[in-house]
Amino acid sequence: MSFITEAILRPKNIGAVAPSSKRLAKLMTENADLKHAKVVVELGPGTGVFTELILQEIPDSAVFMAIEQNEHFVTIMRAQYPTVDTIHGSAEHLKNYLKERGAESCDKILSGLPWASFDERLQRLLLSKIYESLSPDGVFLTFAYYPINHLPRGRTFKRQLRRYFKDIKKTRVVLNVPPAFVYICKR
Ligand SMILES: C[S@@+](CC[C@H](N)C(=O)[O-])C[C@H]1O[C@@H](n2cnc3c(N)ncnc32)[C@H](O)[C@@H]1O
Repeated sequence: MSFITEAILRPKNIGAVAPSSKRLAKLMTENADLKHAKVVVELGPGTGVFTELILQEIPDSAVFMAIEQNEHFVTIMRAQYPTVDTIHGSAEHLKNYLKERGAESCDKILSGLPWASFDERLQRLLLSKIYESLSPDGVFLTFAYYPINHLPRGRTFKRQLRRYFKDIKKTRVVLNVPPAFVYICKR
């Protein structure tokens, strides 16, 4: 309910009508090779659908932080996942948050950000910060809704992804509201 309320109040920032399905969360984490992760960042965790699976996969030695802009979701995240370092802030400050925690870069970035709600300027700004923060052997995973990926902002996002990442793979589409797939991006 709280997700739907926030989606109605702030449609541009939330960009979804419901939390992601477990299927989509699984598709994200199974393609991230989290068992070997060192520094893991989740962007836009919302109510923590991906967080739960990330926690099950990462080794005890991994550093894990989640960056969420919405105050209400931050409160939920901190109550539900007290061991997770949930930062109340914007993904655009990712580099600073890593630095504050003594990390130069991260090797896994899992994003729940609503790219198709963002204009081209914001897409580019956020992708540049993600690219700069990812280690050379790191991986960036993000989902897109089908068939919204074929609409102008979805196409713009795909074009922006290509500007930054040499190796981009797409998974199959899974059940979700709306249906979704994952982009797996390497530098
Ligand atoms: C589509 S929801 C996804 C939530 C969750 N990951 C899921 O899949 O159910 C997008 C989330 O990104 C957050 N968000 C939007 N812009 C952000 C930003 N610049 N920095 C951090 N979080 C942001 C929203 O508040 C929201 O929680």
